[in-house]
Amino acid sequence: MKSCFLLVAAFLLWPSFSSQNVCEEPDEIDFGEIVTTEKVKYLENDRVQYRCNPGYVLEGPEWIQCKEQEWTPHPPKCLAPCRITRQQLAAKKLFAFGGQRKTQFIQSNHSLQFQCNEGYVLVAPSVRKCVDSYMELPLCISERGQNCSGPPRTENGDISTLSEKQYRSGSSVEFRCQKYYAMEGQNRSFCDNGTWTKVPICLDPCMIPKAELERQKIEVKDGMDASENTFVQRGHSIELTCKTGYVLAANASQSASVIHCNGTPPVIPNCKAYDLFCPEITCNSPRVLNGSFRPIKNIYHDGDLIRIQCDSGFILETDYGGKVVECTENGWSPSPKCVFEITCQADYIEHGTILSPKVIYKEGERIRFSCNEGYTYVDRPDALCTETGWSTILQCTEIQCPPPQMRNGLFRPYRSQYMYNDAIEIWCSPMSNFGNKFSKCTANGWSPPPLC
Ligand SMILES: *[C@@H]1O[C@H](CO)[C@@H](O)[C@H](O)[C@H]1NC(C)=O
Ligand SMILES: *[C@@H]1O[C@H](CO)[C@@H](O)[C@H](O)[C@H]1NC(C)=O
Ligand SMILES: *[C@@H]1O[C@H](CO)[C@@H](O)[C@H](O)[C@H]1NC(C)=O
Ligand SMILES: *[C@@H]1O[C@H](CO)[C@@H](O)[C@H](O)[C@H]1NC(C)=O
Ligand SMILES: *[C@@H]1O[C@H](CO)[C@@H](O)[C@H](O)[C@H]1NC(C)=O
Ligand SMILES: *[C@@H]1O[C@H](CO)[C@@H](O)[C@H](O)[C@H]1NC(C)=O
Repeated sequence: MKSCFLLVAAFLLWPSFSSQNVCEEPDEIDFGEIVTTEKVKYLENDRVQYRCNPGYVLEGPEWIQCKEQEWTPHPPKCLAPCRITRQQLAAKKLFAFGGQRKTQFIQSNHSLQFQCNEGYVLVAPSVRKCVDSYMELPLCISERGQNCSGPPRTENGDISTLSEKQYRSGSSVEFRCQKYYAMEGQNRSFCDNGTWTKVPICLDPCMIPKAELERQKIEVKDGMDASENTFVQRGHSIELTCKTGYVLAANASQSASVIHCNGTPPVIPNCKAYDLFCPEITCNSPRVLNGSFRPIKNIYHDGDLIRIQCDSGFILETDYGGKVVECTENGWSPSPKCVFEITCQADYIEHGTILSPKVIYKEGERIRFSCNEGYTYVDRPDALCTETGWSTILQCTEIQCPPPQMRNGLFRPYRSQYMYNDAIEIWCSPMSNFGNKFSKCTANGWSPPPLC
């Protein structure tokens, strides 16, 4: 009894125990350590703290937390300082602002301002930043170097400084890119002992052709000059918006799209007409059993018509005269359904029997029937199924005989109407010939005929 109870208890405890989220040991980081006390097991919501070695700069969160078996956010990094040696400075004719020429450490993300030795020109900028142990030192150009001839050129750019025939070493020219062109690199080139330092590049803009905008029913948002092609500078963006009454074909719930110029030719999105009150209506190709339809397409739009041709013996379910079905917001209307054509129906005739019965008869089919004894057909013992129904009345009526018209004789009993099989007795007058003594009411009238 007791062990059974323990088993139940263990079972009850099990789910909460297993659902307890446990994180693996938090990652160690380079040039840093975890400062919170280490644990054997890290549970949900446990936190650990990181710290970088002296001189290193923490990038990222100081604390991370165990959430659903994952440490979030990711552990930080420790960024290394930059080391600028006395030898490096001397070789590059540099010294730190304030006259320092000795080896020094600069923490990551910290900056240092430089100067060049006497007789040298510094290529800007003079302030350089240390990024995780990396720092690009400025260039010092000797003023005693060879002259440079003519200013350098760059495509789609011009020099904005005075153009000269000869430039002294250490002098520079400044560049400007033409309209819509984006500059890549320093805007200055220096004459360095007879040669020019790297010239900047002017990057082509993205062209958005007006004709394409027209074709896609889109325009530049707040666009002033809609009469010409639009240019977007490299690295810049432009917002396009669908013309009034249009939405993006790719997403009807949006009408604006941002084009970013990154060097590849921009793709102009397409806009389609949008009726605010009546979103686009489409119908799929219908499945018509026992029939076919035209024209066949994958998708139909509001107001599209198809003509249904039902197989012989079948008819459009809602045959209102036409065989044309329309695509509407509720789908195809009327329903493109071919049903068995029912023109005439007969499953039972009172006081009669249908010969080879069928229940449903198509146009042109004939029904035959017989009437029970004592009954006869009203019209004919058969009928033709026509467009308007049976050609004759399908009915059996009780056989009756009117009193016979007799000359030269009498009969009895006398009634105004006789039923099937009723018999009469006949007396001929003494002057006439002797006729039949009895006659019966039959399907064909009195038989034998009551004559004298
Ligand atoms: C680097 O310095 C800038 C300001 O000088 C500061 O905004 C930024 O947060 C710093 N980055 C890091 C990783 O410390
Ligand atoms: C300039 O370059 C020449 C070789 O092309 C070199 O001999 C000379 O020392 C250089 N002058 C300076 C000031 O760097
Ligand atoms: C260098 O150019 C300057 C003018 O910019 C000129 O005065 C000087 O004579 C030139 N030196 C040489 C060696 O051509
Ligand atoms: C060239 O670049 C410097 C900084 O890099 C900037 O101050 C200056 O305005 C620029 N000149 C032109 C013409 O863009
Ligand atoms: C369409 O745009 C809406 C609104 O910005 C957005 O919520 C939806 O996810 C987009 N649909 C598609 C298929 O991109
Ligand atoms: C009508 O369609 C049904 C379902 O496809 C099929 O079983 C039946 O044979 C068809 N009838 C005729 C007369 O083609």
